[in-house]
Amino acid sequence: MRSHILGRIALDQERLAQDLAHLAAVPTVEEEYDEFSNGFWKNIPLYNASGASDDRLYRDLHGAPAQPTGHVEHVPYLNEIITTVFDVERLQMARTRNLKNAVVIPHRDFVELDRGLDQYFRTHVMLEDSPLAFHSDDDTVIHMRAGEIWYLDAAAVHSAVNFGEFSRQSLCVDLAFDGAFDEKEAFADASVYTSDVSPAIHERKPFTKEREAGILALSGVIGRENFRDILFLLSKVHYTYDVHPSETYEWLVAVSKEAGDDKMVEKAERIRDFAIGARAFGERFSLTTW
Ligand SMILES: [Fe+2]
Repeated sequence: MRSHILGRIALDQERLAQDLAHLAAVPTVEEEYDEFSNGFWKNIPLYNASGASDDRLYRDLHGAPAQPTGHVEHVPYLNEIITTVFDVERLQMARTRNLKNAVVIPHRDFVELDRGLDQYFRTHVMLEDSPLAFHSDDDTVIHMRAGEIWYLDAAAVHSAVNFGEFSRQSLCVDLAFDGAFDEKEAFADASVYTSDVSPAIHERKPFTKEREAGILALSGVIGRENFRDILFLLSKVHYTYDVHPSETYEWLVAVSKEAGDDKMVEKAERIRDFAIGARAFGERFSLTTW
Protein backbone atom coordinates (compact mmCIF):
# COMPACT_ATOMS: atom_id res chain seq x y z
CA MET A 1 0.00 0.00 0.00
CA ARG A 2 1.37 3.36 -1.00
CA SER A 3 -1.53 5.27 0.57
CA HIS A 4 -0.61 6.73 3.94
CA ILE A 5 -1.51 9.31 6.55
CA LEU A 6 -0.05 12.74 5.83
CA GLY A 7 -1.28 14.53 8.88
CA ARG A 8 -4.11 15.25 11.22
CA ILE A 9 -6.19 18.28 12.02
CA ALA A 10 -8.47 19.01 14.97
CA LEU A 11 -11.96 19.53 13.56
CA ASP A 12 -14.19 22.29 14.91
CA GLN A 13 -17.36 20.22 15.24
CA GLU A 14 -19.68 23.22 15.53
CA ARG A 15 -18.47 24.88 12.34
CA LEU A 16 -18.24 21.54 10.57
CA ALA A 17 -21.88 20.74 11.42
CA GLN A 18 -23.03 23.98 9.77
CA ASP A 19 -21.15 23.17 6.56
CA LEU A 20 -22.37 19.58 6.53
CA ALA A 21 -25.95 20.82 6.89
CA HIS A 22 -25.51 22.82 3.68
CA LEU A 23 -24.06 19.82 1.85
CA ALA A 24 -26.96 17.64 2.99
CA ALA A 25 -29.41 20.18 1.51
CA VAL A 26 -27.76 20.15 -1.95
CA PRO A 27 -29.87 17.95 -4.24
CA THR A 28 -28.39 14.59 -5.20
CA VAL A 29 -27.76 14.25 -8.94
CA GLU A 30 -26.23 11.74 -11.30
CA GLU A 31 -22.48 11.61 -10.74
CA GLU A 32 -19.63 11.48 -13.21
CA TYR A 33 -18.52 7.86 -13.36
CA ASP A 34 -21.83 6.87 -11.74
CA GLU A 35 -21.25 3.41 -13.18
CA PHE A 36 -18.56 2.93 -10.52
CA SER A 37 -20.96 3.01 -7.60
CA ASN A 38 -24.31 1.98 -6.23
CA GLY A 39 -26.21 3.21 -3.17
CA PHE A 40 -25.75 6.76 -1.93
CA TRP A 41 -22.69 8.48 -3.44
CA LYS A 42 -22.75 12.25 -3.47
CA ASN A 43 -19.90 14.45 -4.67
CA ILE A 44 -20.11 18.23 -4.38
CA PRO A 45 -17.46 20.29 -6.17
CA LEU A 46 -16.02 23.19 -4.16
CA TYR A 47 -13.14 23.99 -6.53
CA ASN A 48 -12.91 22.74 -10.11
CA ALA A 49 -11.76 23.63 -13.61
CA SER A 50 -14.76 25.78 -14.57
CA GLY A 51 -16.18 27.18 -11.32
CA ALA A 52 -19.58 25.69 -12.25
CA SER A 53 -21.40 24.25 -9.24
CA ASP A 54 -22.51 21.18 -11.18
CA ASP A 55 -19.18 20.41 -12.87
CA ARG A 56 -18.05 17.16 -11.24
CA LEU A 57 -15.53 16.00 -13.82
CA TYR A 58 -11.87 15.93 -12.83
CA ARG A 59 -9.74 17.66 -15.44
CA ASP A 60 -6.08 18.51 -15.62
CA LEU A 61 -5.61 22.27 -15.19
CA HIS A 62 -2.02 22.49 -16.45
CA GLY A 63 -1.10 25.40 -14.20
CA ALA A 64 -4.36 27.35 -14.37
CA PRO A 65 -5.85 28.01 -10.91
CA ALA A 66 -8.82 25.92 -9.79
CA GLN A 67 -11.99 28.02 -9.58
CA PRO A 68 -14.28 28.19 -6.53
CA THR A 69 -17.82 27.05 -7.19
CA GLY A 70 -21.02 28.58 -5.80
CA HIS A 71 -20.99 26.03 -2.97
CA VAL A 72 -17.87 27.51 -1.38
CA GLU A 73 -19.59 30.50 0.24
CA HIS A 74 -21.93 28.08 2.05
CA VAL A 75 -19.12 25.98 3.51
CA PRO A 76 -16.75 28.58 5.02
CA TYR A 77 -15.12 26.12 7.38
CA LEU A 78 -14.27 23.61 4.64
CA ASN A 79 -13.00 26.45 2.48
CA GLU A 80 -10.77 27.54 5.36
CA ILE A 81 -9.38 23.99 5.61
CA ILE A 82 -8.68 23.86 1.88
CA THR A 83 -7.03 27.26 1.68
CA THR A 84 -5.03 27.21 4.92
CA VAL A 85 -3.94 23.56 5.07
CA PHE A 86 -3.09 22.98 1.40
CA ASP A 87 -0.94 24.82 -1.11
CA VAL A 88 -3.72 26.19 -3.32
CA GLU A 89 -1.22 26.89 -6.10
CA ARG A 90 -1.23 23.12 -6.65
CA LEU A 91 -4.97 22.73 -6.33
CA GLN A 92 -6.71 20.90 -9.17
CA MET A 93 -10.04 20.11 -7.58
CA ALA A 94 -11.66 20.00 -4.15
CA ARG A 95 -14.92 18.24 -3.48
CA THR A 96 -16.84 16.64 -0.69
CA ARG A 97 -17.68 13.00 -1.11
CA ASN A 98 -20.23 11.07 0.83
CA LEU A 99 -20.82 7.36 0.63
CA LYS A 100 -23.59 5.61 2.55
CA ASN A 101 -24.68 2.00 2.32
CA ALA A 102 -22.74 1.85 -0.92
CA VAL A 103 -19.65 0.52 -2.62
CA VAL A 104 -17.42 2.02 -5.31
CA ILE A 105 -16.11 -0.79 -7.53
CA PRO A 106 -12.34 -1.38 -7.67
CA HIS A 107 -10.83 1.00 -10.19
CA ARG A 108 -7.85 3.16 -11.03
CA ASP A 109 -8.08 6.92 -11.48
CA PHE A 110 -6.18 9.36 -13.70
CA VAL A 111 -5.59 6.75 -16.43
CA GLU A 112 -7.48 8.94 -18.93
CA LEU A 113 -5.30 11.99 -18.18
CA ASP A 114 -2.01 13.29 -19.52
CA ARG A 115 0.51 13.55 -16.72
CA GLY A 116 2.65 10.76 -15.31
CA LEU A 117 0.53 9.02 -12.68
CA ASP A 118 2.91 10.02 -9.88
CA GLN A 119 2.28 13.71 -10.58
CA TYR A 120 -1.29 13.46 -9.28
CA PHE A 121 -1.60 13.86 -5.55
CA ARG A 122 -5.02 12.93 -4.17
CA THR A 123 -5.74 13.62 -0.53
CA HIS A 124 -8.73 12.85 1.66
CA VAL A 125 -9.51 14.80 4.80
CA MET A 126 -11.93 12.58 6.67
CA LEU A 127 -14.68 14.73 8.18
CA GLU A 128 -16.85 12.09 9.80
CA ASP A 129 -16.01 8.74 11.31
CA SER A 130 -18.32 6.03 10.08
CA PRO A 131 -17.16 2.79 11.73
CA LEU A 132 -18.23 0.63 8.80
CA ALA A 133 -16.57 2.74 6.09
CA PHE A 134 -13.35 1.49 4.49
CA HIS A 135 -10.98 2.18 1.62
CA SER A 136 -8.91 -0.43 -0.13
CA ASP A 137 -5.59 0.16 -1.82
CA ASP A 138 -4.00 -2.82 -3.57
CA ASP A 139 -3.33 -5.30 -0.78
CA THR A 140 -4.61 -3.32 2.20
CA VAL A 141 -7.94 -2.20 3.64
CA ILE A 142 -7.94 0.89 5.82
CA HIS A 143 -10.37 2.77 7.98
CA MET A 144 -9.87 6.53 7.83
CA ARG A 145 -10.60 8.29 11.10
CA ALA A 146 -12.07 11.77 11.35
CA GLY A 147 -9.45 14.51 11.16
CA GLU A 148 -6.90 12.33 9.36
CA ILE A 149 -5.44 13.63 6.11
CA TRP A 150 -4.57 10.79 3.75
CA TYR A 151 -2.64 10.49 0.56
CA LEU A 152 -4.73 8.03 -1.45
CA ASP A 153 -2.89 6.26 -4.22
CA ALA A 154 -5.70 6.56 -6.74
CA ALA A 155 -3.48 5.31 -9.57
CA ALA A 156 -3.42 1.88 -7.87
CA VAL A 157 -6.44 -0.43 -7.86
CA HIS A 158 -8.61 0.91 -5.04
CA SER A 159 -12.18 0.96 -3.88
CA ALA A 160 -14.37 2.40 -1.13
CA VAL A 161 -17.29 1.06 0.83
CA ASN A 162 -19.62 2.05 3.61
CA PHE A 163 -21.51 -0.95 4.94
CA GLY A 164 -23.55 1.29 7.25
CA GLU A 165 -26.08 4.09 7.04
CA PHE A 166 -23.81 6.51 8.89
CA SER A 167 -22.78 9.48 6.82
CA ARG A 168 -19.11 9.27 5.81
CA GLN A 169 -18.31 12.67 4.49
CA SER A 170 -14.79 13.31 3.31
CA LEU A 171 -13.11 16.31 1.74
CA CYS A 172 -11.15 15.16 -1.29
CA VAL A 173 -8.44 17.65 -2.30
CA ASP A 174 -6.59 16.92 -5.54
CA LEU A 175 -3.24 18.52 -6.19
CA ALA A 176 -0.82 18.04 -9.05
CA PHE A 177 2.90 18.59 -9.40
CA ASP A 178 5.29 19.04 -12.28
CA GLY A 179 8.35 16.84 -11.90
CA ALA A 180 9.74 15.46 -8.66
CA PHE A 181 8.30 16.77 -5.40
CA ASP A 182 8.32 16.25 -1.67
CA GLU A 183 4.86 15.52 -0.28
CA LYS A 184 5.35 18.25 2.34
CA GLU A 185 4.98 20.65 -0.60
CA ALA A 186 1.29 19.76 -0.68
CA PHE A 187 0.78 21.83 2.45
CA ALA A 188 0.59 25.54 3.07
CA ASP A 189 0.71 24.81 6.79
CA ALA A 190 3.68 22.50 7.38
CA SER A 191 2.61 21.94 10.98
CA VAL A 192 -0.19 19.55 9.95
CA TYR A 193 2.29 17.25 8.20
CA THR A 194 3.30 14.23 10.24
CA SER A 195 4.52 10.78 9.42
CA ASP A 196 4.06 9.19 12.84
CA VAL A 197 0.31 8.45 12.97
CA SER A 198 -0.37 4.70 12.69
CA PRO A 199 -3.20 3.89 10.29
CA ALA A 200 -6.23 1.85 11.33
CA ILE A 201 -5.72 -1.26 9.19
CA HIS A 202 -8.83 -3.38 8.81
CA GLU A 203 -8.12 -7.03 9.64
CA ARG A 204 -9.47 -9.50 7.09
CA LYS A 205 -10.08 -13.24 7.09
CA PRO A 206 -7.91 -15.57 5.01
CA PHE A 207 -9.26 -16.11 1.50
CA THR A 208 -9.73 -19.89 1.25
CA LYS A 209 -10.40 -22.33 -1.60
CA GLU A 210 -13.83 -22.93 -0.05
CA ARG A 211 -14.63 -19.23 -0.17
CA GLU A 212 -13.49 -19.04 -3.78
CA ALA A 213 -15.67 -22.04 -4.67
CA GLY A 214 -18.63 -20.32 -3.03
CA ILE A 215 -18.04 -17.22 -5.11
CA LEU A 216 -17.71 -19.18 -8.35
CA ALA A 217 -21.01 -20.90 -7.57
CA LEU A 218 -22.62 -17.54 -8.38
CA SER A 219 -22.58 -18.83 -11.96
CA GLY A 220 -25.86 -20.47 -10.98
CA VAL A 221 -27.30 -17.11 -9.96
CA ILE A 222 -25.87 -14.53 -12.38
CA GLY A 223 -28.01 -13.25 -15.24
CA ARG A 224 -28.25 -10.05 -17.27
CA GLU A 225 -30.91 -8.76 -14.88
CA ASN A 226 -28.61 -9.07 -11.85
CA PHE A 227 -25.18 -8.69 -13.51
CA ARG A 228 -24.74 -5.25 -11.95
CA ASP A 229 -25.76 -6.52 -8.50
CA ILE A 230 -23.27 -9.38 -8.75
CA LEU A 231 -20.50 -6.92 -9.64
CA PHE A 232 -21.26 -4.81 -6.56
CA LEU A 233 -21.53 -7.93 -4.41
CA LEU A 234 -18.16 -9.19 -5.66
CA SER A 235 -16.65 -5.73 -5.10
CA LYS A 236 -17.33 -6.11 -1.36
CA VAL A 237 -15.59 -9.49 -0.92
CA HIS A 238 -12.07 -8.10 -0.52
CA TYR A 239 -13.18 -5.99 2.44
CA THR A 240 -13.86 -9.17 4.43
CA TYR A 241 -11.33 -11.57 2.91
CA ASP A 242 -7.65 -11.02 2.27
CA VAL A 243 -7.65 -10.98 -1.52
CA HIS A 244 -6.69 -8.34 -4.08
CA PRO A 245 -9.55 -6.04 -5.21
CA SER A 246 -8.81 -6.73 -8.89
CA GLU A 247 -9.94 -10.36 -8.32
CA THR A 248 -13.47 -8.90 -8.39
CA TYR A 249 -13.26 -8.85 -12.19
CA GLU A 250 -11.66 -12.27 -12.57
CA TRP A 251 -14.58 -13.74 -10.63
CA LEU A 252 -17.10 -11.78 -12.70
CA VAL A 253 -15.55 -13.07 -15.93
CA ALA A 254 -15.36 -16.62 -14.58
CA VAL A 255 -18.98 -16.81 -13.38
CA SER A 256 -20.19 -15.21 -16.63
CA LYS A 257 -18.27 -17.85 -18.62
CA GLU A 258 -19.61 -20.66 -16.46
CA ALA A 259 -23.12 -19.31 -16.95
CA GLY A 260 -22.55 -19.63 -20.70
CA ASP A 261 -23.60 -16.11 -21.73
CA ASP A 262 -21.10 -14.57 -24.16
CA LYS A 263 -22.61 -11.09 -23.79
CA MET A 264 -22.00 -11.21 -20.06
CA VAL A 265 -18.44 -12.45 -20.58
CA GLU A 266 -17.80 -9.58 -22.99
CA LYS A 267 -19.31 -7.04 -20.60
CA ALA A 268 -17.35 -8.44 -17.66
CA GLU A 269 -14.10 -8.13 -19.61
CA ARG A 270 -14.98 -4.64 -20.75
CA ILE A 271 -15.84 -3.35 -17.28
CA ARG A 272 -12.56 -4.85 -16.03
CA ASP A 273 -10.57 -3.07 -18.73
CA PHE A 274 -12.56 0.15 -18.26
CA ALA A 275 -12.16 0.24 -14.47
CA ILE A 276 -8.61 -0.97 -13.91
CA GLY A 277 -7.07 -0.86 -17.40
CA ALA A 278 -7.04 2.01 -19.86
CA ARG A 279 -10.01 4.24 -20.72
CA ALA A 280 -10.41 7.31 -22.87
CA PHE A 281 -11.21 10.72 -21.36
CA GLY A 282 -14.98 11.07 -20.91
CA GLU A 283 -15.58 7.42 -21.89
CA ARG A 284 -18.65 5.97 -20.22
CA PHE A 285 -19.84 2.48 -19.61
CA SER A 286 -23.26 0.92 -19.12
CA LEU A 287 -23.84 -2.10 -16.90
CA THR A 288 -27.50 -2.40 -17.75
CA THR A 289 -27.83 -2.15 -21.55
CA TRP A 290 -27.26 -5.31 -23.57
FE1 LIG B 1 -11.07 6.54 -7.18
